[in-house]
Amino acid sequence: MDSVVIIDSDSEFHTTKSEFIIPSIKFEDIVEEFRHFLMEIYTKRRAHWLSVFDSDYRKLKCQVRFIQEIMDGKPVVSCKKVLVGELRRRKYEAFAKSVDATKTKDEDEKHDTGDDINASNINDNDHGCLFGRSIKSSSTVSKSKIAKRKAEHNELEPLSEKDMWCKDLDDEYAPTAMRSHKGGLWLWLPLSNSAMFTKDHTSHVAYERVYEPAEDSFLLLDILSSASETAFLQSRFFTTSPDPLVIEIGPGSGVVIAFLAAHASTIFGTRNILTGAVDMNAHACVATTETVRRAISSNAATASAAFLGAVQGDLLAPLRDRSVDVLVFNPPYVPTAELPSRGGSSRDGNGYKGEREAAGNSFEEDSYLLALSYAGGKDGMETTDRLLDGLPRVLSDRGCAYVLLCAQNKPEEVKERVRRGGWRVETVGSSGKKAGWEKLQIIRIWRE
Ligand SMILES: C[S@@+](CC[C@H](N)C(=O)[O-])C[C@H]1O[C@@H](n2cnc3c(N)ncnc32)[C@H](O)[C@@H]1O
Repeated sequence: MDSVVIIDSDSEFHTTKSEFIIPSIKFEDIVEEFRHFLMEIYTKRRAHWLSVFDSDYRKLKCQVRFIQEIMDGKPVVSCKKVLVGELRRRKYEAFAKSVDATKTKDEDEKHDTGDDINASNINDNDHGCLFGRSIKSSSTVSKSKIAKRKAEHNELEPLSEKDMWCKDLDDEYAPTAMRSHKGGLWLWLPLSNSAMFTKDHTSHVAYERVYEPAEDSFLLLDILSSASETAFLQSRFFTTSPDPLVIEIGPGSGVVIAFLAAHASTIFGTRNILTGAVDMNAHACVATTETVRRAISSNAATASAAFLGAVQGDLLAPLRDRSVDVLVFNPPYVPTAELPSRGGSSRDGNGYKGEREAAGNSFEEDSYLLALSYAGGKDGMETTDRLLDGLPRVLSDRGCAYVLLCAQNKPEEVKERVRRGGWRVETVGSSGKKAGWEKLQIIRIWRE
């Protein structure tokens, strides 16, 4: 890592080069100077994660109970309204939309008692964790997932703030300290690793209908912040004007574009970048806006605050000609017999008919939105091919694009096709961890 973010004990942020770090600091010195500051951070962190683990655990238990009871024929699934009444009668816990993770235990217990089971503050969507998924996807909620959440909660609960800090130090994910050249002590906040970054900023995302970050998302974060890609991006955008426009197509939860916005100065060599996103899924657009907001506010020293927004749209359609400097796409890349469509709907110029009319959060609607995030049609390339065809129109003269491919997309053939279009293209990273069709790679496409 070339640049690091440091914070002094007056909470002032600085960036510096890693070669200026003098790591031989006594642990006791750090404790002494940063105790209050660190303990405050860990108190917040502890409360946040205990609440997330607990809420997830109870939600998963509800889902398993629901599946079991459906299989036993207990609640009769006729229409959503009847089912909601039945769930209330059976004292299913209600989870208020979007605030599940941060809701306090007291509030949840109130729902548990059933005292206000008919109260107007519980609406149909409060059982969304059950309706939001198809029975098929719910059946993957296994006992081991529940046990995992419970274990995470139990592991964290007895830890003090200081224990957490020590554990982070063991895992090499901890603030460490260094002496500044003036002799004072500075704390070094390392760039969070990709999984941790995701965990920290996406607890609001409804994964029933928005793609949950996975190995492909993490690979993008790792590659975009790698030494070679930051060198490439900085050489292209550090000194040039106007400020570069960075767009993610299909942001899903928003974790990738949030990472780029939050670490702008480390990745692009400047905080003066503009970011934005386009997704077909309106829920993804809402989630992205919040993920970016959270990531920017917790990375004040390196972030670009100029997020233009997330727009619902089809691939490059909302973008102006030659306007994009950096484009990122983790596409729906799994080969499927056909592309997803809503029952009986057909494409029209503005997307899918029915998309604008879709009401509520039906099984079908959520299944469609999730299919949109992975189903890639023939060779998994139908959507990616449409995007590649559109690149000459939207990329600026200095523009480049990062596109993720899996082995079944036939990456060598894809790269050859791109080259024939007059572009340079190179594989800049691969997952290398998984064999078979899931093996992933990221290609960079650019003009000299
Ligand atoms: C594999 S997910 C990637 C999500 C996120 N970028 C990540 O890496 O975690 C693909 C995303 O592309 C979106 N998508 C699929 N087809 C699209 C299209 N034609 N136009 C815009 N977005 C699309 C999906 O809704 C989904 O959010």
